[in-house]
Order: sequence, then C-alpha cells, then structure tokens
Amino acid sequence: MKSVLLTGIRTGIGRNLLERFMADHWHVTGVIRRESQRRAFADFPQDRLKLFVADLSREDETFRLIEGIRALAFNVIVLNAGMTYSGHFLKLPREHIDEIIRTNLLANMHIVHGLIGRAVENNAKIVFISSLAARLPAFNSGVYAASKAGLSHFYTSLSYEYPALPMLCVEIGLVNTPFFEKSGAPAGPRNSFFKSPALIGGRLYREIQTKRGMTSLCADWTMMRKAFMIFEALTVWIISKLRSAYYSRQKILTKVL
Ligand SMILES: NC(=O)c1ccc[n+]([C@@H]2O[C@H](COP(=O)([O-])OP(=O)(O)OC[C@H]3O[C@@H](n4cnc5c(N)ncnc54)[C@H](OP(=O)(O)O)[C@@H]3O)[C@@H](O)[C@H]2O)c1
Repeated sequence: MKSVLLTGIRTGIGRNLLERFMADHWHVTGVIRRESQRRAFADFPQDRLKLFVADLSREDETFRLIEGIRALAFNVIVLNAGMTYSGHFLKLPREHIDEIIRTNLLANMHIVHGLIGRAVENNAKIVFISSLAARLPAFNSGVYAASKAGLSHFYTSLSYEYPALPMLCVEIGLVNTPFFEKSGAPAGPRNSFFKSPALIGGRLYREIQTKRGMTSLCADWTMMRKAFMIFEALTVWIISKLRSAYYSRQKILTKVL
C-alpha cells in the first residue's frame, strides 16, 4: 500500500489531492492547522487517513509534527500548505511577515531536514508547491513572492545535492481556491486566468506520479514563466554589455587624457 504525507489538506488544491489519493487507496498522513478541523475529514476511510495537527507558522508545532512523523515511511511527500496576507508591504504587521516566511518556507525546510534521511532510504518523492510569484513580480505580495522564490531555489539547490532523489517543484499560477479570501485580498472577478482546483489537482496528481524536475502544469503559465526568465536573462546580458562598453570607454579616455 502506498503512503503519502500531504500538508494543507482542508481546502483548495490540498483537499483535491487528498480526495484523489484516497480514491486510489493510498494511505494518507494529512496535516491540518487546528484540532477543530478534524471533523471535516469524518467521511474519509479512517483506517487510511491519519491526521496530525500543526500550525506550520509555529516552530514548536512544526518540530512536534516532525517528531511524530519522522519514523514513518512515505512514498511521496507533498509540501502544499501555504498562505499569505495581501497588502502594501509597509502596512503589513511584522508578525505577518514572519508567519508567511515560516509557513511557506521555513516549515518546509525543517520538514525536509527531518525526513530526508528516510526519504533517501525509501526513494520517496518530495513535491514542493511553489508559485509563479517565485519568478514574476507579485503586486502587494512581496513577502509571499520571496517565500516562494526561496522555496523554488531551495528545491533547485537540493536537487543538485541529492541528484538521485526524485523531486518535483510546481510553480503554479492563479487557482480559484479560498487562498485569496484568507489573504484579505479584495474579492475581484475570477477571470479566465483563474484555473479550477479540480483541473489543477488532476494535473498535479498525474505529475506527482510521473514527473520530476520543475513544472508549471499549464501551457500559459509555462509560457509566462519562460518569457519572464528570458526577459530577465536578456536584461542582465544588456546591462553587462553596457557596463563593459562603459568601462572600456573610461579606459580609453584615461589613456588619452
Ligand atoms: N490559489 C492560487 O492561486 C495559488 C497560486 C500559486 C501557488 N499556490 C500555492 O498552492 C498551495 C495551496 O494553496 P490553495 O490555493 O489550495 O490555498 P488554500 O485553499 O488556502 O489551501 C492552503 C492550505 O494550507 C493550509 N495552511 C495555511 N497556513 C497554514 C499553517 N500555518 N499551518 C498549517 N496549515 C496551513 C490551509 O489551512 P487552513 O484550511 O487552516 O487555512 C489550507 O489547508 C499553497 O502553497 C499556495 O501558496 C496557490
């Protein structure tokens, strides 16, 4: 029987993944934020769903979770839990800055640190749920963008350090989940840029089984991501050319004068 660790299972993409793993008869170790959220999972077969409670923005609860799951063997580890607070950077209370970084980046690093030894033994796949915000500027979401850029870069560095360990990092775009209401963002229209959690959950579920490396799940998201990376690389190239032209001109001027 296959076994998965899945964080952030109460709503959105995590909930969709939970339903898919359960339907395929996986054993799921799910992480929820509060004890009171347990009742939202009463309808799932309880012999295959083990719930752990941990507020991942809190170091003590994250470490307690790691101690509780350290000895378990997983085939897949999906680090999905994530959150943000929307708003102008200066208006963000300091505690909110810390909460975003702790939940989206630090907790995931600690979980990987605690589990990677067993993951190597079991050849478990580690899946990081990142965001296009890791590459593209995110308006009123600078801390969130930094947390996801950190997560993506952590994945990239780790994949060099552990080339044999299967890992997947998914940089996704806008998905129509409760994420935005929870962030306090104004409820704008959900236009065609927003994908449904069912579509993204389905694609993610397939790629978890089949793929490793960096992915974006949808052609338009992949194009945006690649276009921005090319634009960035081009900007760096142009700046380096301008700079070397400036310095050679300075050298010539110094010789002449
Ligand atoms: N929706 C998008 O447009 C979008 C775009 C790019 C990336 N993502 C990423 O996709 C992942 C899933 O997000 P989603 O859209 O499905 O949002 P969601 O519906 O809000 O789901 C996020 C899940 O993470 C859990 N979580 C948040 N903070 C936590 C904490 N401190 N401790 C424990 N659990 C916590 C939430 O628990 P509660 O139910 O208790 O809140 C929830 O179950 C996140 O990593 C998000 O950053 C989403």
